[in-house]
Amino acid sequence: MNWKGKHVLVTGGTSFIGSSLADALVSRGAIVRVVDDLSAGRYEYISRLVESGSVEFIKGDLLDAAIAARSVRGIEYLFHLAAIHGGRGYVDLHNVECSMNLVLDGQLFREGIVKTIDWYVNNRNPDEVRSQLQSMLTER
Ligand SMILES: NC(=O)c1ccc[n+]([C@@H]2O[C@H](COP(=O)([O-])OP(=O)(O)OC[C@H]3O[C@@H](n4cnc5c(N)ncnc54)[C@H](O)[C@@H]3O)[C@@H](O)[C@H]2O)c1
Repeated sequence: MNWKGKHVLVTGGTSFIGSSLADALVSRGAIVRVVDDLSAGRYEYISRLVESGSVEFIKGDLLDAAIAARSVRGIEYLFHLAAIHGGRGYVDLHNVECSMNLVLDGQLFREGIVKTIDWYVNNRNPDEVRSQLQSMLTER
Protein backbone atom coordinates (compact mmCIF):
# COMPACT_ATOMS: atom_id res chain seq x y z
CA MET A 1 0.00 0.00 0.00
CA ASN A 2 1.40 3.36 -1.01
CA TRP A 3 0.19 5.93 1.55
CA LYS A 4 1.87 8.92 -0.03
CA GLY A 5 -0.64 11.78 -0.40
CA LYS A 6 -3.56 9.67 0.84
CA HIS A 7 -6.05 11.44 3.12
CA VAL A 8 -6.44 9.25 6.20
CA LEU A 9 -8.59 9.65 9.30
CA VAL A 10 -7.63 7.92 12.55
CA THR A 11 -10.46 8.00 15.07
CA GLY A 12 -9.27 7.54 18.64
CA GLY A 13 -5.91 8.70 17.36
CA THR A 14 -4.64 9.98 20.71
CA SER A 15 -4.75 6.46 22.16
CA PHE A 16 -1.51 4.55 22.48
CA ILE A 17 -2.36 2.43 19.44
CA GLY A 18 -3.96 5.25 17.46
CA SER A 19 -1.07 7.67 17.95
CA SER A 20 1.46 5.00 16.88
CA LEU A 21 -0.66 4.40 13.80
CA ALA A 22 -0.82 8.14 13.04
CA ASP A 23 2.96 8.32 13.39
CA ALA A 24 3.44 5.34 11.04
CA LEU A 25 1.08 6.86 8.46
CA VAL A 26 2.83 10.26 8.57
CA SER A 27 6.21 8.60 8.09
CA ARG A 28 4.77 6.95 4.95
CA GLY A 29 3.64 10.26 3.48
CA ALA A 30 -0.07 10.14 4.33
CA ILE A 31 -2.05 13.30 5.07
CA VAL A 32 -3.40 12.42 8.49
CA ARG A 33 -6.32 13.73 10.50
CA VAL A 34 -6.99 12.54 14.05
CA VAL A 35 -10.28 12.90 15.87
CA ASP A 36 -10.54 12.13 19.56
CA ASP A 37 -12.52 13.47 22.51
CA LEU A 38 -9.55 12.84 24.85
CA SER A 39 -11.80 10.83 27.17
CA ALA A 40 -9.11 8.17 27.39
CA GLY A 41 -6.46 9.33 24.91
CA ARG A 42 -3.67 11.77 25.61
CA TYR A 43 -2.91 14.80 23.46
CA GLU A 44 0.80 14.47 24.37
CA TYR A 45 0.95 11.32 22.22
CA ILE A 46 0.35 13.35 19.06
CA SER A 47 1.38 16.89 20.09
CA ARG A 48 4.69 16.65 18.20
CA LEU A 49 2.87 15.62 15.00
CA VAL A 50 0.22 18.32 15.38
CA GLU A 51 2.66 21.08 16.21
CA SER A 52 4.91 20.17 13.27
CA GLY A 53 1.88 20.38 10.97
CA SER A 54 1.99 16.67 10.08
CA VAL A 55 -1.38 15.86 11.67
CA GLU A 56 -4.61 17.80 11.82
CA PHE A 57 -6.32 17.28 15.17
CA ILE A 58 -10.04 17.60 15.81
CA LYS A 59 -10.96 17.44 19.47
CA GLY A 60 -14.53 16.23 19.55
CA ASP A 61 -17.04 13.57 20.43
CA LEU A 62 -17.90 11.30 17.49
CA LEU A 63 -21.35 10.74 18.98
CA ASP A 64 -22.00 14.27 17.74
CA ALA A 65 -23.08 13.97 14.08
CA ALA A 66 -21.54 17.33 13.20
CA ILE A 67 -18.14 16.19 14.50
CA ALA A 68 -18.41 12.90 12.59
CA ALA A 69 -19.31 14.76 9.39
CA ARG A 70 -16.46 17.24 9.80
CA SER A 71 -14.02 14.44 10.55
CA VAL A 72 -14.66 12.42 7.40
CA ARG A 73 -14.73 15.41 5.05
CA GLY A 74 -12.20 14.82 2.26
CA ILE A 75 -11.07 11.50 3.75
CA GLU A 76 -10.21 8.46 1.59
CA TYR A 77 -9.18 5.95 4.24
CA LEU A 78 -10.56 5.50 7.73
CA PHE A 79 -9.03 3.67 10.67
CA HIS A 80 -11.76 3.55 13.29
CA LEU A 81 -10.20 3.02 16.72
CA ALA A 82 -12.38 5.31 18.85
CA ALA A 83 -14.37 3.22 21.28
CA ILE A 84 -15.74 3.04 24.75
CA HIS A 85 -14.11 -0.06 26.16
CA GLY A 86 -12.31 -1.50 29.14
CA GLY A 87 -10.42 -4.54 30.28
CA ARG A 88 -11.62 -8.09 30.77
CA GLY A 89 -15.24 -8.20 31.98
CA TYR A 90 -16.02 -4.61 31.00
CA VAL A 91 -18.57 -5.62 28.36
CA ASP A 92 -20.49 -7.77 30.86
CA LEU A 93 -20.66 -5.05 33.49
CA HIS A 94 -21.07 -1.96 31.29
CA ASN A 95 -23.72 -2.89 28.72
CA VAL A 96 -25.09 0.62 28.35
CA GLU A 97 -21.70 2.25 27.84
CA CYS A 98 -20.67 -0.41 25.31
CA SER A 99 -23.92 -0.06 23.38
CA MET A 100 -22.94 3.54 22.67
CA ASN A 101 -20.26 2.13 20.36
CA LEU A 102 -23.03 1.09 17.98
CA VAL A 103 -24.16 4.71 17.75
CA LEU A 104 -20.58 5.85 17.35
CA ASP A 105 -19.94 3.31 14.56
CA GLY A 106 -23.24 4.26 12.93
CA GLN A 107 -22.30 7.94 12.71
CA LEU A 108 -19.08 7.10 10.91
CA PHE A 109 -20.66 4.49 8.64
CA ARG A 110 -23.36 6.93 7.63
CA GLU A 111 -20.88 9.69 6.93
CA GLY A 112 -18.44 7.23 5.34
CA ILE A 113 -21.07 5.91 2.95
CA VAL A 114 -22.12 9.41 2.00
CA LYS A 115 -18.50 10.35 1.37
CA THR A 116 -17.63 6.96 -0.26
CA ILE A 117 -14.58 6.21 1.79
CA ASP A 118 -12.60 3.46 0.06
CA TRP A 119 -11.27 1.45 2.92
CA TYR A 120 -12.38 0.87 6.47
CA VAL A 121 -10.56 -1.04 9.18
CA ASN A 122 -12.91 -1.92 11.99
CA ASN A 123 -11.59 -1.86 15.52
CA ARG A 124 -14.08 -4.52 16.63
CA ASN A 125 -12.00 -7.19 14.92
CA PRO A 126 -8.62 -7.33 16.68
CA ASP A 127 -7.21 -9.85 14.18
CA GLU A 128 -7.98 -7.55 11.28
CA VAL A 129 -6.47 -4.54 13.07
CA ARG A 130 -3.36 -6.52 13.98
CA SER A 131 -2.79 -7.90 10.47
CA GLN A 132 -3.41 -4.53 8.79
CA LEU A 133 -1.06 -2.74 11.17
CA GLN A 134 1.57 -5.45 10.86
CA SER A 135 1.55 -5.32 7.08
CA MET A 136 1.70 -1.51 7.16
CA LEU A 137 4.62 -1.45 9.52
CA THR A 138 6.65 -4.09 7.71
CA GLU A 139 6.12 -2.98 4.12
CA ARG A 140 8.59 -0.57 2.56
N1 LIG B 1 -5.36 -2.47 23.68
C1 LIG B 1 -5.62 -3.66 23.11
O1 LIG B 1 -5.09 -4.71 23.49
C2 LIG B 1 -6.58 -3.75 21.94
C3 LIG B 1 -6.74 -4.96 21.27
C4 LIG B 1 -7.62 -5.03 20.16
C5 LIG B 1 -8.32 -3.90 19.75
N2 LIG B 1 -8.15 -2.75 20.43
C6 LIG B 1 -8.90 -1.60 19.96
O2 LIG B 1 -7.99 -0.58 19.52
C7 LIG B 1 -8.53 0.71 19.84
C8 LIG B 1 -7.53 1.52 20.65
O3 LIG B 1 -7.29 0.81 21.85
P1 LIG B 1 -6.50 1.40 23.07
O4 LIG B 1 -6.18 0.25 23.95
O5 LIG B 1 -5.40 2.26 22.59
O6 LIG B 1 -7.72 2.16 23.80
P2 LIG B 1 -8.07 3.64 24.16
O7 LIG B 1 -9.24 3.63 25.07
O8 LIG B 1 -6.87 4.33 24.65
O9 LIG B 1 -8.57 4.18 22.73
C9 LIG B 1 -9.82 4.65 22.42
C10 LIG B 1 -9.70 6.11 21.99
O10 LIG B 1 -10.97 6.55 21.56
C11 LIG B 1 -11.23 7.82 22.12
N3 LIG B 1 -12.68 7.94 22.20
C12 LIG B 1 -13.54 7.20 22.96
N4 LIG B 1 -14.80 7.61 22.76
C13 LIG B 1 -14.76 8.61 21.85
C14 LIG B 1 -15.76 9.43 21.25
N5 LIG B 1 -17.06 9.31 21.55
N6 LIG B 1 -15.36 10.36 20.35
C15 LIG B 1 -14.05 10.52 20.04
N7 LIG B 1 -13.07 9.76 20.59
C16 LIG B 1 -13.41 8.82 21.48
C17 LIG B 1 -10.53 7.82 23.46
O11 LIG B 1 -10.23 9.10 23.97
C18 LIG B 1 -9.25 7.03 23.14
O12 LIG B 1 -8.21 7.86 22.69
C19 LIG B 1 -9.85 0.47 20.61
O13 LIG B 1 -10.91 0.57 19.69
C20 LIG B 1 -9.73 -0.97 21.08
O14 LIG B 1 -11.00 -1.58 21.20
C21 LIG B 1 -7.29 -2.63 21.51
